[in-house]
Amino acid sequence: MFALDLIIKKRNGGKLSKEEIRYFVNGYTTGQIPDYQASAFLMAVYFNGMDTEETLWLTEAMLHSGDVVDLSCIPGIKVDKHSTGGVGDKTTLVIAPIVASCGVPVAKMSGRGLGHTGGTIDKLESIPGFRTGLSSEEFVKNVKEIGIAVTGQTGNLAPADKKLYALRDATGTVENLSLIAASIMSKKLASGSDVIVLDVKTGSGAFMKTIDEAEKLARLMVDIGKGAGKRTVALITDMDRPLGNKIGNALEVSEAVDILNGRGPADLREVCVELAANMLFAAGKGDIEFCRSLAVESIEKGTAIKKLKEMVERQDGDPGVVDDTSKLPSAPFRAEWKAEEPGYIEKMHAEKLGMASMLLGAGRKHKDDVIDPSAGIELVKKPSDKVEAGETIAVLHTSDENRIPEALGVLKTAIGISPDPVPGKPLILGKVH
Ligand code: URA
Repeated sequence: MFALDLIIKKRNGGKLSKEEIRYFVNGYTTGQIPDYQASAFLMAVYFNGMDTEETLWLTEAMLHSGDVVDLSCIPGIKVDKHSTGGVGDKTTLVIAPIVASCGVPVAKMSGRGLGHTGGTIDKLESIPGFRTGLSSEEFVKNVKEIGIAVTGQTGNLAPADKKLYALRDATGTVENLSLIAASIMSKKLASGSDVIVLDVKTGSGAFMKTIDEAEKLARLMVDIGKGAGKRTVALITDMDRPLGNKIGNALEVSEAVDILNGRGPADLREVCVELAANMLFAAGKGDIEFCRSLAVESIEKGTAIKKLKEMVERQDGDPGVVDDTSKLPSAPFRAEWKAEEPGYIEKMHAEKLGMASMLLGAGRKHKDDVIDPSAGIELVKKPSDKVEAGETIAVLHTSDENRIPEALGVLKTAIGISPDPVPGKPLILGKVH
């Protein structure tokens, strides 16, 4: 078999066999196939696509390119969740403790943020001392003993994805449904859980800009999960506006703590309860309505916040942060973003808000950029809210005041104000199972 033959076959719109896909993935991961041929291959896939069977074979080949975590020593059904990424998306920090406190073990491997989207690992690292680099042994031990662990990708998990994702990023081949689905699902399947709940975001702050694309990605990932023998369900949720009121690492941890204390913004709470309920349902805890009530009860009775504190303590973070979020890093510089005209907020472009937050220091333009844990944006107003001219829409936080003008420049283009009242929009847009 030759890499060139596979490139030509895909370039001409052919269907690749399981063996051919495996040959390509193994060859590229081990360095036998060079970047220039892998780039051409990815571009051929980008333009001509893969069908569901090819995508499943690609996922399997990537999954088996490295270690697969074995959680079989932990009793019960283990669950994992994955969000396709968004702005202000701190749901893992809320959901994982809720689900674990209801007796369902959560074994979660998360990523870092890149560009306008945040990453759970960066958020957790804003908690002083918190370790996100657990070994596989520690990860399994913590899930077994306290029912929860959230860590960065351990060891040699799906190394094919690491290499391919970097190449896709550099060759304009990220935005292909099969490549995205195989990338996400190879990592989820390698993480070893029995149940996978996917949060596929759609809108201006998401990868998938339209609901139609989000549904297609959700369908593909659910089919891959089921094809690999895992119970898999996807919710499609809105990311046309930021989720919750806080964007940025420490700010998002404090908002997650608020939700677990029964406070915080209603939109974030709704999405978290729905995702948690679906995780509990898929783990066999009862019908969906009962699972919703379990999730709400874990907040009201304080068992979920207790579980978060236990996890923070176990991973060497300062548990006092959970009792008092003022112990989180706090930015020395603040600025206000003010409305230029009166009316009702019609649109808040989530991607631009994520970009502005990144410019303040909360995110990375490049993979190796250092994050300012205290940086970000605190929204005072959200879509549908009424504003007067000169009223504060948001407060900007940063450790470097020189960053403020550029961020404010982006924010000015991120809002639409209507003279007429703007109706609210639903947050949960669909379910694929
Ligand atoms: N997230 C991933 O892990 N992979 C993709 O391809 C896109 C988003």
